[in-house]
Formats: sequence, structure tokens, C-alpha cells
Amino acid sequence: MKIKDAVFVVSNSEVSKCPTDEKYEFAFIGRSNVGKSSLINMLTGKKNLAKTSGTPGKTQLINHFLIDEKWYLVDLPGYGYAKASKTARFKWEKFISEYLTKRKNLMNTFVLLDARLEPQQIDLEFMNWCGEKGLPFSMVFTKIDKLSSTALQKNLAKYRKEMLKYWDELPPVFTSSSESGFGKEPILNYIGAILE
Ligand code: GTP
Ligand code: MG
Repeated sequence: MKIKDAVFVVSNSEVSKCPTDEKYEFAFIGRSNVGKSSLINMLTGKKNLAKTSGTPGKTQLINHFLIDEKWYLVDLPGYGYAKASKTARFKWEKFISEYLTKRKNLMNTFVLLDARLEPQQIDLEFMNWCGEKGLPFSMVFTKIDKLSSTALQKNLAKYRKEMLKYWDELPPVFTSSSESGFGKEPILNYIGAILE
């Protein structure tokens, strides 16, 4: 699948204010700075569609982008951003969890994981929480341009092993680089198959 058109629609911190047209949507979540906004830009081929930053905590709201007038990509704030005040963190988590659990047209959540890191507690906890809530998700290992393929395979194997402690099988797994564009086709085709 290819994306022809992508436009920003709305940002907010309330599920009730998200678009109500019931188009299918796909969300991107993960730790601050993992590359959620960059991945959305890479997938849509629009460099400045979602705001990115080298400093964690850039995306603070639920951002809807309408794709080809038919479906949405949704950029979410990161979790585990230590510098945010406790109140701000709590608020993010509450509206994010509300969004994730209440949004009926949310078809899949892509959980982004930094490919350079070994399995992280906060990410495992988040994925287990998705499991408890019955939310469909996939794993996307980001920034693969920053490590060797041997190191990548090692981290993937560690994740696989860790996940299989809790799960009978792994969700779909993707690898990506917003720098090189790697991973674009498989991720878009996965979305395309759900949209069909
Ligand atoms: P928050 O909105 O703060 O939660 O962050 P985010 O997950 O949206 O991350 P963002 O896309 O803003 O990217 C964070 C930083 O990582 C930026 O400096 C990006 O340029 C960089 N980055 C993101 N993806 C990649 C990638 O695939 N490769 C490399 N080399 N850098 C990346
Ligand atoms: Mg962001």
C-alpha cells in the first residue's frame, strides 16, 4: 500500500474530542524519543507532518492525521519521560489509557521499541497491559540504522525470549529506520491488509 495524501486534523487530550467519523485508525506509542513522530513522517513521506525533536517529550497530545481521506494515523505522547512533572505524567497516562481502551475504531497500536536497547521493563509492562485490556498491538523496533545487524538480531532474540515468558506467541514484529525508510512497505502493507 502507498500513501498519497496525509493531513493533520486535530490535537487534543480528550477522547471525546477525537474525530467522530469512525474511520479506522492506527496509533503509535512507546517511550519518549523512540521515534513515533519520525515514523509517521517516514510512512507518509511528509518530513514535517508530525513534530519531532531530539529532546524527549515533544508530542504531548493525541494527534490525528487523515490519510487519503479514508483512515487515520495517530501520534501519541511518549511514556516514561522522567523529566515531566509527576502530575503531567499522570495526566498523559490517564488520557492515553482512556484513548487506547475507549477508542472503538482503533484497529492496531504500534508499540515502538528502540532497537539498540535490551528489553526494557516499562515497555514490557506496557505490552502486558495491552494484553490484559485485549488491545491488538504490534512491535516496531526503531532506529535500526544506528546498530549493526548482528546487534539488532541479538536484541530481537532477547525480546522474543522475554515476551514468550508472558505470551504464547509474539505479535507482528517490524524493524524500521526513519532515516533510511526501511520498514515502510511491510508496515503499510500490514495496515492495508487490516483496512481491506
Ligand atoms: P516524543 O514525541 O518526545 O515522545 O518522541 P517521539 O517518539 O515522537 O520521537 P521523535 O520522532 O521526535 O524522534 C526523536 C529523535 O530520534 C529525533 O531526533 C529523531 O530525528 C530521531 N530518530 C527518530 N527515528 C530515527 C531513526 O529511525 N533513525 C535515527 N538515526 N534517528 C531517529
Ligand atoms: Mg513525538
